[in-house]
Amino acid sequence: MTDSIRIPLIAGNWKMHLNLAQSVELAKAIRDAAGDSPSEIAICVPFTALTVVAEVLKGSRVRLGAQDIFWESQGAFTGEISASQLADSGASYVIIGHSERRRLFGDTDEAVNKKLRAALGAKLNPIVCVGETLDERQSNQTFRVLETQMAGGLKGFAPADLASAVVAYEPVWAIGTGVTATPEQAQEAHRFLRRQAAKLYGEGFAAGLRIIYGGSVTADSVDGLMSQPDLDGALVGGASLKAPSFNRIVHFQVPSKAV
Ligand code: 13P
Repeated sequence: MTDSIRIPLIAGNWKMHLNLAQSVELAKAIRDAAGDSPSEIAICVPFTALTVVAEVLKGSRVRLGAQDIFWESQGAFTGEISASQLADSGASYVIIGHSERRRLFGDTDEAVNKKLRAALGAKLNPIVCVGETLDERQSNQTFRVLETQMAGGLKGFAPADLASAVVAYEPVWAIGTGVTATPEQAQEAHRFLRRQAAKLYGEGFAAGLRIIYGGSVTADSVDGLMSQPDLDGALVGGASLKAPSFNRIVHFQVPSKAV
């Protein structure tokens, strides 16, 4: 299998930023600059901005995403949002198991697994996040953590069910710190994750699985990261909040990956 079967995905994660007017303005700037980028582009916005941003993106090639989901389909779950509600708002992507959800809100691998099932059931494209903390990296636990998070989060599906799933490698120590993983560090982790995917669901599945990198990606670091063979895109936090930097990331320059 070659890289060309995996269309790069550049996704912005706006986290808990921007009011509605700012959201509309940024979405328009991203939409208008998408042009002929070879990548798929998505922006994952706060729940409250989904419908207004959906309106901006209508008919464009920029996809809309949410940042979390709850696994039940409906009921007395105050504060939660279901898969069908997300789809109804115009979302086609959803981030699951972001390290901020794991660390601050207690999301476990089991919760990630249930959220993944709910997302796939509503035909949302899930972006499942995994990644080690600095302590775990420094104590040589990185591969063990990635293996556990992959196995726990992705367990119990048929390979075909997961065709739309994306895995995001987001080392916790690189998120919001300005310390980007080096292309080599990222490649090592991505290659490991692809091997885990092969163990879980076979070589064909693993070869087609998009594994994207997140953690202080900037306009300056994206080209080096994307030049690595197992990096299939980026999940961008801070640099996705300004149109010039995000648009440059969308138009990353790696000759061998330009389609
Ligand atoms: P930063 O790009 O701000 O480090 O955030 C990364 C991230 O958490 C994306 O989901």
